[in-house]
Amino acid sequence: MILNPTTGIDALAFAGPAGYVDMTELAQARGVDPAKYLLGLGQNSMAIAAPCEDTVTMAVAAGQQALQQFDIDPDDIGTLIVGTETGIDHSKPVAVYAHELLGLSQNCRTFETKHACYGAMAGLTASMDWIASGRARGRKAMVIASDIARYGLNTAGEPTQGAGAVAMVVAPEPRLLSIDPMHIGDYTRQVMDFWRPLYSKYAFADGHYSIQCYLDALSGAHNDALNGSSDALLDRLAASLYHVPFVKMAFKAHQRLLEIETGNSYSKEQADGWQQLQEHFGEKVAPWLKLNAEIGNIYTGSLFLSLIDLLRQAGTSLAGETISLFSYGSGCGATFCLGQIAAQAGDWSAQLDPATQLQQRRRLSIDEYEQLINASENADTEAQLNPADYGLDSGLFYTGTRDHIRHYEHF
Ligand code: CAA
Repeated sequence: MILNPTTGIDALAFAGPAGYVDMTELAQARGVDPAKYLLGLGQNSMAIAAPCEDTVTMAVAAGQQALQQFDIDPDDIGTLIVGTETGIDHSKPVAVYAHELLGLSQNCRTFETKHACYGAMAGLTASMDWIASGRARGRKAMVIASDIARYGLNTAGEPTQGAGAVAMVVAPEPRLLSIDPMHIGDYTRQVMDFWRPLYSKYAFADGHYSIQCYLDALSGAHNDALNGSSDALLDRLAASLYHVPFVKMAFKAHQRLLEIETGNSYSKEQADGWQQLQEHFGEKVAPWLKLNAEIGNIYTGSLFLSLIDLLRQAGTSLAGETISLFSYGSGCGATFCLGQIAAQAGDWSAQLDPATQLQQRRRLSIDEYEQLINASENADTEAQLNPADYGLDSGLFYTGTRDHIRHYEHF
């Protein structure tokens, strides 16, 4: 496949909260058959942020790792974009806190992007444009996706929560993935599928409608990426990565793309087609959803979490191969694009792998989880928060708002 691999992702890192909830325990507490969460949604556990862990602390942890693990000088970063649904101020961007805490240059342009789960993809393509325009003058861009997905206790969205940040550095001749600027397709439509009014800490979602909106956006962005060509794409791709609000959504997305490309419909009632879909999904999508199944929805970062999963497992075996990436933000905005895995991507699999971080997480009882959610409701106005009260001992934490100013401290 002919690509124009010029710019793309040169470094990647994930950071998430210290606690998680087991989906079987949550299902039992809610009186739901665990198979609904484990198989119906595809989730094993979900990351839960404590009141001291917010969008800034996770963004900084991921950003530091990306710089350190990939040996990038903070002075080389000329643009910092934080994509988030979970801003911490109506005016002041998460990005400017991260800029200071990451020690970036004062000549680094810094801003926040918002479009539900789409902000980081918007930041990634804007960074590529910044580099292609020549304005970067040899510098790199950092894009950080950082979010806490909250729907509230006892809601339909509750099992599709999560929290975490993915940081990426965007540069020419990237060490991980180049993105083809000639195959980036966009889609926008005003829909009320998921939103969060200024007065609410919890998202409102028209859940089943949001799934339809996601699939419509996928069709629209995929069509735009193909530039009117009717060539079938999927069989030539080594992997297809999607926005993953819950693992089963990636299955529905892949089903839709196969239907578009083959003109067939794949339903359980047609055994052969269903089997073909399962095999296709099992080979090209499912292997890269392991982290999403353990962490849950991290909104802006969830597509890139799937990319980390792919690169940590198959950076070597899939070197040089083409993959697709689809980002969806409710409301809605979406991008479908093609990328090529760098020849040496496999050299970075150990640096990328968050397995140790996940092993160190603490399993929260349902009581503890509910207390954390309730405590988080007032975290923005608490004067003094003590990380030790939430079992947190080392790292950067939000320690309360005094004189209307948020405070962050290293422990
Ligand atoms: N065993 C196995 N499977 C079971 C089961 C059982 N006992 N019980 C139910 N299931 C299956 C269902 O058949 C269904 O699977 P299919 O869709 O393949 O049929 C699945 O489990 C979920 O069941 P329901 O549809 O009945 O679940 P629900 O009505 O409680 O809600 C949801 C599901 C709509 C996803 C809800 O969790 C929600 O609103 N989540 C938030 C919104 C969301 O994530 N939307 C995604 C698209 S929008 C987006 O992507 C942006 C974003 O990040 C928010």
